[in-house]
Amino acid sequence: MAAKIISGKAVAQEIREEIKKEVEKLKEKYNVTPGLVTVLVGEDPASQVYVGQKEKTSKNLGFYSERHDLPATTSEEELLSLIGKLNKDPKIHGILVQLPLPKHINETNVLYAIDPKKDVDGFHPVNVGKLMIGEPDYLPCTPAGIQELLIRSGTQIEGAEVVVVGRSNIVGKPIANMLLQKAPGANATVTVCHTRTRDIKFHTKRADILIVAAGRPKAVTADMVKEGVVVIDVGVNRLETGLCGDVDFEAVKEKAAAITPVPGGVGPMTITMLMKNTLKAAKLLNGIRE
Ligand code: GUN
Repeated sequence: MAAKIISGKAVAQEIREEIKKEVEKLKEKYNVTPGLVTVLVGEDPASQVYVGQKEKTSKNLGFYSERHDLPATTSEEELLSLIGKLNKDPKIHGILVQLPLPKHINETNVLYAIDPKKDVDGFHPVNVGKLMIGEPDYLPCTPAGIQELLIRSGTQIEGAEVVVVGRSNIVGKPIANMLLQKAPGANATVTVCHTRTRDIKFHTKRADILIVAAGRPKAVTADMVKEGVVVIDVGVNRLETGLCGDVDFEAVKEKAAAITPVPGGVGPMTITMLMKNTLKAAKLLNGIRE
C-alpha cells in the first residue's frame, strides 16, 4: 500500500489563512501590525533563498517587514549593535538572524543578544529552557511545523514510539523535547539517534513516527522502516538532480502509512510557524491576550 503524502504546502496554506485573519483583527481592534525583521550576513545562496521566502511571506500576510543584508565582512560588534537597536524598535516584534553566520562571528553571542521576547526563532537559551520545562513562549519553527503536520494529518502521537534521527539544536533536540512533554499533541516515547548510535536501523525499525534530520541524502532506506510508519523528512539536500530529502522517498513510501515529500513537506511549514511566532510576539509585546 502506497503512503498518504502529507502536503506541508497545503497545511501551511491553511495556517497562513488563519494567520491573515488574525492580523486583520489585530490591526482593526488594536492598531497593531506584526513586524518581522530578517538579518542576513554574507552571501550564502541557500540563506538568501530562505530569507527571501520569509520576507515575501510576511508581506503577503500583511506584516511590517524589514530586511538587513550585511556584507560577509561585518564584525560581531556591528551585528550586536544592530540587534540592540532592533530590540528597542517598537515596530519590530520578531528578530530573525539567519544562520549559519560567517566563521568570525560567535553565533552564541548573537543569539544571546536578541531580546527573548522578540526571539521568534526560539533559539535564545531562555526560550530553549522554557521549552524544556513545558512552558514555551516561542517554539522553534521547524519542530513546531513538524508537530503541526503530525497533528493535522491525524497521526496518533500520544503513546507512539517516536524515533528522531539527528540531534541538532535547531531540529533534533527540540522536536524530541516537544514530543515527550506531558501535553496534547505530545506524550510520546522518544528515542534520539545520532552519528555515534551503534545500530540506527535497530531503532528506526521500531518507530511508529520517524523524524529524519540527519543532513545526509537518502540516509533512511526502505529496509530501515516498518510497515505503517509515519515519516517526516526534514532533509534539504541540493543535488545536481534537484532537491532531495534525507529519506529514500520512492522506496520508503511503499511501506509507510504517510510521508512528507521534499520539497513541499516540512519547508513551507517552517516559514509558516515563523509567521505564527511573529504574530504571537506582536500580541505578547502589546499585552494582548487573545
Ligand atoms: N538556518 C537554518 N534554519 C534556520 C532557522 O530556522 N532559523 C534561522 N535563523 N536560521 C536557520
